[in-house]
This record gives sequence, structure tokens and C-alpha cells, in this order.
Amino acid sequence: MYKKLTDCLASLREKTDFKPEVGLILGSGLGDYADGIKVEAAVDYADIDGFPVSTVTGHRGRFVFGYVKDVPVVIMQGRVHYYEGYAMSEVVLPIRLMGMAGAKKLFLTNAAGGINTAYRPGDFMMITDHITTGVPSPLIGPNVEELGVRFPDMSEVYSRRLQDVIRESAKICGVRLHEGVYVQLTGPNYETPAEIRMCRNWGGDAVGMSTACEAMAARHMGMEVCGISCITNLAAGVSQEKLDHKEVQETADRVSEIFKRLVTDVIIRM
Ligand code: HPA
Repeated sequence: MYKKLTDCLASLREKTDFKPEVGLILGSGLGDYADGIKVEAAVDYADIDGFPVSTVTGHRGRFVFGYVKDVPVVIMQGRVHYYEGYAMSEVVLPIRLMGMAGAKKLFLTNAAGGINTAYRPGDFMMITDHITTGVPSPLIGPNVEELGVRFPDMSEVYSRRLQDVIRESAKICGVRLHEGVYVQLTGPNYETPAEIRMCRNWGGDAVGMSTACEAMAARHMGMEVCGISCITNLAAGVSQEKLDHKEVQETADRVSEIFKRLVTDVIIRM
């Protein structure tokens, strides 16, 4: 795995030597965020030898390097999902690559279903912790010693310092911000109402098909991590509505302007 990572990094370095400080992953609705920054370079995933390429619609596949105000960032426009059929080690390869390219901090965004009955579509939730019991750990397999230890601590995956930054930014941007626990399941199907009741009993507030595995891989290699979910829908059984991807996309698009403002403010402060 480390050889594969260094090969990918070498392939990336043939295209750009940009050194990011922050890695940002764009979830649904934020897809065009990179269009609004000062772009220095863009590299399609398909042009990086050995890189897992995303297939889901609405997720463009490329790294965009540039500046948000003065902060050098690398943006993942489209992530890799476990449900696409990749091994978890492949799913988190881009995270490790961003870390190896220089990013010390990682900002994760996603679309998620609201488990907490106080949440409404269009709300935002700062991720304070996660539950990944429903998916394999991305750290299974021979440990990549060059990146981190075999048994990494996960008692503060989402940095308390960055949580303070997000709270402050939300206040400044006038965003009502929930705080809660993100549950990652495999997808691609949405959950059953019974599964959502289980997630609620576990202590989950929002559910999705990404993010937590990325946070784990980043923590393994010592990156500082934070995340925000856009609650695009009530999770299965919370209302009588059936779930569909169109609703998820529509809600994400509806609140994308305020989400982008919040993301920018956080990046400047983080
Ligand atoms: N479940 C899982 N993933 C999701 C959901 C959901 O309800 N909404 C957006 N991503």
C-alpha cells in the first residue's frame, strides 16, 4: 500500500508541486465550490496512475489545488465510496495522498440523513464523533508503518480546536448548527426504518455512506480533522416520505450558497 501511495504521489507531482495546508472534501451540493477559489492546478483522478476513480453521478473526479483567501488547499471534487466496490484501503487512498502531499488538516463535508428527530432537511450538523461499526475499518490489513501506528487512538477524531472554529464560523455566518454523531453505513441502498432506530439507539444523529472512514485514515496519519454534514433528508422512517437521491441532491443544492460561505469561513480560521 505504501508503494502504491508513493507511486500515486509521484504521478501527482509530475502534474503539480503545489503544497496544500488543508484538504477539503466536497459532498453533494458543494461540487462547484472549487470554481470560486483561486485555482493553481487541477488534476483529474483518472490521470493519476493507480487512483480509484469515482462513478456516481453528481461527483466530479478531480483534485483542485489553489487558495481560499491565503490558505493553500487541495480540494477533492468527488470522493470514492465503498459502495462503488472498492476495498476500504482504496476508498481512503485519496485522503492519504492529500496528507502525503502536505495537508496537515482535513475538512470533510457530506450529505446525510437526519436520525435525530429535531433535525430538518437543509440543516447543518457539525460532526463531533462517529460510529463506523457498520463498515470495515480502512486500517484493516498490514499496517502502513510510514503513516501511523497499528492501533491508533480514536478518542478525538474530530479536533476540539476545529470544532470551536466551526462554532465560531457558524455564528458569524448566521448558520444554525447542530452537533452530533455521524453513523457510516455501506449504502448504496438507503436504510430501513429498523436500521435507523438501531442507529438512534447507538447514539447516532445523522447517517451517511462516507466520511467516517476518511476521518479514521486521516487520524491514523496524524492529520487534524473536522467535518460538517448537510442534513438533506429525514432518515428512513423518521417521516412517511420515501427516500430518493433526487431529494438529497435538491436539498443540498438549495442550501449550497450558505454552506459554501460557511466552508470558506472555516478554512480561513482553521
Ligand atoms: N442515508 C444514507 N446516506 C444518506 C442519506 C440517508 O438518509 N441522505 C444522504 N446520504
